[in-house]
Amino acid sequence: MSIRIAVVGLGGQGRNQMELVQNLGPYEVVGGSDPSPQAREAAVPQLGVPVFETIEELLDKTKPDAVYVATATFAHVEPTVTALAAGSNVILDKPMGVDLAEAGQMVAAANASSGSLYVFHNRRGDGDFLTLEKLVQDGALGDLVMLQSRLMANAKQPAATPENWRADPARGGGMLLDWGPHLTDHVLALMPGKATRVLAEVRTVSWTLPVENYFRLDLWFDDGARAQIEYNNASPLDMPRFYALGDKACAVKHGMEGCVSVPSVIRSEFLVRDYETGRIDMVQSARPDHMLLWRNLADVFHGEAEPLVPLDHAFQVMAVLDAARRSAQTGSFVDL
Ligand SMILES: NC(=O)c1ccc[n+]([C@@H]2O[C@H](COP(=O)([O-])OP(=O)(O)OC[C@H]3O[C@@H](n4cnc5c(N)ncnc54)[C@H](O)[C@@H]3O)[C@@H](O)[C@H]2O)c1
Repeated sequence: MSIRIAVVGLGGQGRNQMELVQNLGPYEVVGGSDPSPQAREAAVPQLGVPVFETIEELLDKTKPDAVYVATATFAHVEPTVTALAAGSNVILDKPMGVDLAEAGQMVAAANASSGSLYVFHNRRGDGDFLTLEKLVQDGALGDLVMLQSRLMANAKQPAATPENWRADPARGGGMLLDWGPHLTDHVLALMPGKATRVLAEVRTVSWTLPVENYFRLDLWFDDGARAQIEYNNASPLDMPRFYALGDKACAVKHGMEGCVSVPSVIRSEFLVRDYETGRIDMVQSARPDHMLLWRNLADVFHGEAEPLVPLDHAFQVMAVLDAARRSAQTGSFVDL
């Protein structure tokens, strides 16, 4: 049975994801909406579906089974709550909102709706994440004691034009809300324990715009394990992408597949070294599976699978980011 999906927010992400989804069997893209005439104009040749100025017209004319919300980060709540109130399922791109209060508002709307809310943590399909997830699940590393997850990019600062929300912290710009959700989702999914405490630094390095391009989160877990998450958008060289220390073995990987902005050691294998034997294995990283989340959601809609990213997990990601924000502001630990 086909899943009729409509998209709210016809910017780069909304259009590109819907173009991918159009080629994936179970989905039928039925329409889109965006208040911007330019965005609607660009969507027509790319998607070939009817486009509308408002979500109300979109819902009324297309009666979708699911709505994909890919509006600018500061504009996630209104379309999500409207679609849920109409009984539609919603797939909401990350971050859930600009803060935890917005995330809570949308969870409450989902609880009151006959539809469900799913958060689009599509980097679950990254090849290196899938590989590390398998190493952890297979017990190859033993119990995880420490996990470091890092990304470095050599990006130019965004143009500070009035329409560019990415350059404006007040409208959800900044890397804590951009890459923070992906990296935090990965770490919470990999660590077996529950995160209990955060210490964070969030700031701007090298750029002149006051939009944060660096963050570092230290996380404590209830089983004694620790994790660090670091992102730097102004670094010409990088550090290991993953360092995962278990009580049986340790795994390290450099470079992010597909990321060309840092001309470093772009490697696609993990080095895994066993404590007892000292043996070193090279584990080739899996191919990225960019459609993993869409396929999972199709199976969920057909009643054949559980969501890979449950809503309470996505809310916990926001709780960690919110705690990180408060920790960076006060310079203190924040308990979750
Ligand atoms: N999951 C990922 O890998 C990934 C990648 C890129 C972007 N994103 C997320 O997708 C969202 C959009 O990013 P983008 O790069 O497409 O931004 P963009 O600026 O290109 O597009 C945003 C669009 O939202 C529209 N919009 C604003 N308010 C609206 C409203 N109330 N109703 C309908 N449309 C509205 C704008 O007119 C614009 O066309 C962001 O939240 C971003 O974090 C996720």
